[in-house]
Amino acid sequence: MTIKKVLVLPGDGIGPEIVTEAVKVVQAMALPIEWEYGLIGGSAVDAVGIPYPETTQQLARAADAVLLGAVGGPKWDPLPRFQRPEQGLLAIRKDLGLFANLRPAVLYPPLVGASTLRPEVVEGLDLLIVRELTGDVYFGEPRGIEMRDGERVGFNTMIYRESEIRRIARVAFEAARRRRRRVCSVDKMNVLETSQLWREVVEEVAREYPDVTLTHLLVDNAAMQLVRAPTAFDVIVTGNMFGDILSDEAAMLTGSIGMLPSASLDGAGKGLYEPCHGSAPDIAGKGVANPLATILSAALMLRYSFGWEEEAAAIERAVRKVLADGRRTPDIAAAGEPVVGTAQMGDAVVAALR
Ligand code: IPM
Ligand code: MG
Repeated sequence: MTIKKVLVLPGDGIGPEIVTEAVKVVQAMALPIEWEYGLIGGSAVDAVGIPYPETTQQLARAADAVLLGAVGGPKWDPLPRFQRPEQGLLAIRKDLGLFANLRPAVLYPPLVGASTLRPEVVEGLDLLIVRELTGDVYFGEPRGIEMRDGERVGFNTMIYRESEIRRIARVAFEAARRRRRRVCSVDKMNVLETSQLWREVVEEVAREYPDVTLTHLLVDNAAMQLVRAPTAFDVIVTGNMFGDILSDEAAMLTGSIGMLPSASLDGAGKGLYEPCHGSAPDIAGKGVANPLATILSAALMLRYSFGWEEEAAAIERAVRKVLADGRRTPDIAAAGEPVVGTAQMGDAVVAALR
């Protein structure tokens, strides 16, 4: 195994606490990894005035993978846009070309009671959202707020190039080949030209994958089907904004957004790994945050960036075991169930690895 360089960006809020547990778990496996640390988000704004400092950029470019906690918090809300912590996240995604965001939503059987949906609706849930991450209305130009005819006007541009659609579609079809061979593409083609092109290009790509079944859903209907019959989905492929929204919805199907990992990939092995949830400022520093989404993100890092499949699977098995053993942070505990803190959960995963 060659030595891999991991840049750790704890970020804000609960970020440092949950990242500590993920690093603890990976370090317990004694793998050839060199760890480096950097600043991003609000903590970077506090230290140097911008959310994605040049030193972080250099470390990120030199690293084989990035493990990130979360960014943002009310403290930085009043700042101008370029200083908002979220801009750090958007900047690193764009800078590293991380166009493919994989968000697997899996229901762990012991947590079936933690979902707000009835057990028979969510039982067996195992879907993968493939979200395009470096395009769409998130990055489209022109954008801004300006005066027109004596009033303020805000505007953004929803835009996709066919090359961007094609490459994310390929990621989805390839992923489907390793799963149940079904792709559902989500768009809003009854209203938007970007979506019309999206659908056309996804259909073109589908011809290269005759063994995979492609269906389409309009995004409003997709949101409904996700709570009506979520187990009908295998791979969902969609644009940046629809993917942002649908992945939070999918997260709740599993009981808690504290369970959802993510991988953002550049298509050449480099990746950024982070939980889907945010910085949860309300519980930051209390030692109660659920570190499992970050620990599972670290597993994805071993798998996708380093090709260490066995080690990744070992972490995932350990997480299943601690859940089966009844370890619960408050977000996934049923009423009256005893709970553990962030560090205890990390320790439990380490113990389960053995
Ligand atoms: C996510 C988050 C980010 C996004 C925010 C923090 C910019 O919601 O990763 O889903 O919208 O992409
Ligand atoms: Mg989001």
